[in-house]
Amino acid sequence: MIGSFDGRTAFVTGAASGIGLALTRALAAEGAKVMLADIEQGALNAALRDLKDSGADARAVACDVSDRTSVIHAAEETFAAFGKVHVVCNNAGVGIGGPVEAIAEADWDWLIGVNFMGAVHGIQAFLPHIKAHGEGGHVVNTASMAGLAGPAGIAPYNATKAAVISLTETLAAELAGTDIGVSVLCTAFVRTRIATSARNRPSRFGEADDAPANPQMAALVEAGLDPAFVADRVLAGIRSNDLYILTHPEVRDVVAGRFDQIMAAFDRASLHEPATRPEVAAALRA
Ligand SMILES: NC(=O)c1ccc[n+]([C@@H]2O[C@H](COP(=O)([O-])OP(=O)(O)OC[C@H]3O[C@@H](n4cnc5c(N)ncnc54)[C@H](O)[C@@H]3O)[C@@H](O)[C@H]2O)c1
Repeated sequence: MIGSFDGRTAFVTGAASGIGLALTRALAAEGAKVMLADIEQGALNAALRDLKDSGADARAVACDVSDRTSVIHAAEETFAAFGKVHVVCNNAGVGIGGPVEAIAEADWDWLIGVNFMGAVHGIQAFLPHIKAHGEGGHVVNTASMAGLAGPAGIAPYNATKAAVISLTETLAAELAGTDIGVSVLCTAFVRTRIATSARNRPSRFGEADDAPANPQMAALVEAGLDPAFVADRVLAGIRSNDLYILTHPEVRDVVAGRFDQIMAAFDRASLHEPATRPEVAAALRA
């Protein structure tokens, strides 16, 4: 577990902008050494300059989280620069909208590649190292409230964020009782550059585009939380090893409504079949 960030090393993806950049600032302010990883080279350079000017011990590495080789390379650069890594923030993410049946295959591939496989790659590149050094650590995956609430019109985003929540829950079950903590950040609208995600779309997933994907969504993002507030919540969540880190209490009823529906489905299920197989529940308990 991570009680203090002082002298620890953190690796953060999507670190050139928004929540990732705020995370690197907050971690550095607490005395952590930080490796910034991002696909947007210009913004990455600017973020690194800014952090170093503030006195942080920071480095940067260009990285496409959807590409396993690129993440492994970034991990090797981080080990070479700082030695041990303790905190891994799999934060890079992108969004796109449209009705389910109309979303292009390349759009699905892009969001699965960055939002979901990016987190898988980060875990696989760093977790064996954290286990081996034995000083404890923490993995934070950035999902979204969208993964819990499932609003219409952004299926690849919702589905990949739900997958990140499930991935994190599974990892927490696998690491229970160890000195490695696990958290998932489920936030809602935060004032970042997410509305222009396609600016950084790798060419193998189609053409990059600077235009906001959805003006209505862009307005909600613009009116959203300060990323620095979200970063502070994440650091507090790491310290107390919270599995779920939330930032928007006003979404509570939406999530409660979803669970009410699931519980009502259990009530209907029990009308037809008695719960006589405790081994099933035991196998599914984390
Ligand atoms: N802003 C919101 O309202 C909001 C809400 C919920 C969750 N999130 C999540 O927060 C995370 C951070 O997004 P943000 O809002 O700060 O947006 P942002 O666009 O400001 O920052 C995202 C960063 O990820 C980088 N990135 C994109 N593709 C990448 C790739 N293939 N490899 C490496 N880096 C890549 C971008 O260059 C950018 O610097 C994402 O996972 C996003 O889904 C954001």
